[in-house]
Amino acid sequence: MPLWKDGKLGLPVKEAVKLFPELKDYLDERGRLDFSNRKARILYNRVIAKALFGLDIDYHPRGLVTPPISRYLFLKTFLKGGEKVLEIGTGHTAMMALMADKLFNCEVTATELDDEFFEYARRNIERNLAKVRLIKSNGGIIRGVVPEDERFDVIFSAPPYYERPTKGVLTEGEGVGGGKYGEAFSVKLIEEARDYLRPGGRVALFLPDKEPLIRAISERGSELGYSVRDVRFRAGTRWRHSLILGL
Ligand SMILES: C[S@@+](CC[C@H](N)C(=O)[O-])C[C@H]1O[C@@H](n2cnc3c(N)ncnc32)[C@H](O)[C@@H]1O
Repeated sequence: MPLWKDGKLGLPVKEAVKLFPELKDYLDERGRLDFSNRKARILYNRVIAKALFGLDIDYHPRGLVTPPISRYLFLKTFLKGGEKVLEIGTGHTAMMALMADKLFNCEVTATELDDEFFEYARRNIERNLAKVRLIKSNGGIIRGVVPEDERFDVIFSAPPYYERPTKGVLTEGEGVGGGKYGEAFSVKLIEEARDYLRPGGRVALFLPDKEPLIRAISERGSELGYSVRDVRFRAGTRWRHSLILGL
């Protein structure tokens, strides 16, 4: 596990400033970083990606500021290493696809719907000399996007999960999962995934601590014949869930 020198999975702001002096502009008089400032969050997360995971990531100025540590902890809940994996919606950073390739030695295919995010993802993959195969989604999730005869050990995603558009924070494609609890995107994903998994394969979803959302996806998963395991983990100040559905 990539740990900073103090033995913790994380990076003290003081150390981050040494690595990226630009961060100084966003510190208050007590040396605290202004996390309400998007540019500061992007810079800090870029330093973490670089210092802890060896990844050089360019963030889209208006995209979700994907935090590397939570994504790494999520991947650790279901990857052993060397699997053939598919990520749905890799985003502009392509962070999880890059980690799966570079840190878990997986054979990685990743999809993305948004044109600008796709282009950023492509460049992030190139910049890190990664072997990720990137596919542009046409609006579909798996079927019609990924070659019909491909089979994977794991299909994973940090899916959009809001019921309807939210103000400001995310683009609609990043945010809106649809359905009563935001579960519709994830439900469609697990329905389609059955046909693209190898025997014993799994789907893993990165989800927030929203009980009705998790229940809706889990119930549909059980109906579809998956075994369902909910792994809750702490990422910074928040609880996150890795919902793992096995065939
Ligand atoms: C919540 S964001 C997650 C981004 C990134 N994987 C992360 O971990 O932060 C969801 C991403 O899925 C993309 N997306 C939405 N619908 C999609 C679809 N049908 N196929 C592929 N990507 C999609 C969005 O553009 C967005 O980049």
